[in-house]
Amino acid sequence: MGVAVEVEGLTKSFGSQNIWSDVTLTLPPGEISVLLGPSGTGKSVFLKSLVGLLKPERGSIVLNDVDIVTCSEHKLYETRKLFGVLFQDGALFGSMNLYDNIAFPLREHTKKSESEIKSIVLEKMEMVGLSGTEEKLPGEISGGMRKRAGIARALVLDPEVILFDEPDSGLDPVRVAYLNQLIVDLNAQIDATFLIVTHDIGTARTVPDNLGLLFRKNLVMFGPREQLLTSQEPVVRQFLNGRREGPIGMSEEKDVAQVEAEMAALEARGGDSHNGVGPKGASGGEAVPPQLEPTEGLPERKAQRRRQERVARMLHEFDQDTAAAIRASLPEDLLAKADSGAYEPTQGSGGRHWGPENGGDGTSRTATATLPRQGGEG
Ligand SMILES: Nc1ncnc2c1ncn2[C@@H]1O[C@H](COP(=O)(O)OP(=O)(O)OP(=O)(O)O)[C@@H](O)[C@H]1O
Ligand SMILES: [Mg+2]
Repeated sequence: MGVAVEVEGLTKSFGSQNIWSDVTLTLPPGEISVLLGPSGTGKSVFLKSLVGLLKPERGSIVLNDVDIVTCSEHKLYETRKLFGVLFQDGALFGSMNLYDNIAFPLREHTKKSESEIKSIVLEKMEMVGLSGTEEKLPGEISGGMRKRAGIARALVLDPEVILFDEPDSGLDPVRVAYLNQLIVDLNAQIDATFLIVTHDIGTARTVPDNLGLLFRKNLVMFGPREQLLTSQEPVVRQFLNGRREGPIGMSEEKDVAQVEAEMAALEARGGDSHNGVGPKGASGGEAVPPQLEPTEGLPERKAQRRRQERVARMLHEFDQDTAAAIRASLPEDLLAKADSGAYEPTQGSGGRHWGPENGGDGTSRTATATLPRQGGEG
């Protein structure tokens, strides 16, 4: 099972240029999360910080009890092996065929024999639908296939956490749809923790369990998909509907009067539902569309039930719209449990919106846990 990644108070600058400050979120184990944000807000910098390639000045990134920000080089090297990363530029070696590209981390980081490597590489290539292309060079295949090769390479060390930096950029809408299905299918098969950076609104609306938005050097919001998809926060609404009207401008932020005038005009035209089908998967359709399910024949996502229990426990934290959307996603037994008052309100969740189960040692690792009043989970 994937591990939780707990980010607390993270702040990153380059010289005097602050990129973001005080970012706090938890990637729940095995769940799929999407991070959105206008270009240049530091999404790639965030992913690189998670794997320890960049050093934030303040804050912590904890997984498996190791803080990536402050741990020793040796610990960092060990912990990095838990991650698989699909970098924004793909980062395949142009002179190496796909087989050797995908085998690279195994040859670099393990002492596996070539025959073991072969069975792993062929297995991962099959998982991403690239069987039979072992001999191809990256330059000889389509962009979509290069993304798949990058994903296969990110999978070979059996990561607990996978970071995807714009896996869908440069792909046509049909390829994006296939890629989204692939991501959900992979999650069902390996139950690792996924974090995806994307600009594709369709992906954001249908793939993840959780959504986050970086804007103006801050994490504006991070929470269950239902929370952001029903949010009335202007910047969240603007981004998830892919429209010009709102706080995000072409190159700079707009002033308040201009935003207010735009929003009034938009509402006069019928609001977001008037926009029809917008760019990159935006639509004026239902606020919370159904989430993509794994392809038939694959196992159910293990994170699904865990997530349902997690959000059932959080129901009271949300406004009516969000709570209604979450309730619609819950099975009968959890709804009954929530309604029976079995879940106590979270104390000072601090935007984290996630509390782990009581640990095996009888303690909970964060102050934000919400535990059932009576023990005896299932
Ligand atoms: N190694 C670095 N040294 C100095 N500045 C950097 C470095 N890496 C990134 N930056 C700066 O950090 C800011 C955020 O960059 P980043 O690439 O993370 O944005 P992004 O949100 O991923 O954008 P996009 O959506 O276009 O990929 C940019 O202003 C960039 O110039
Ligand atoms: Mg980027």
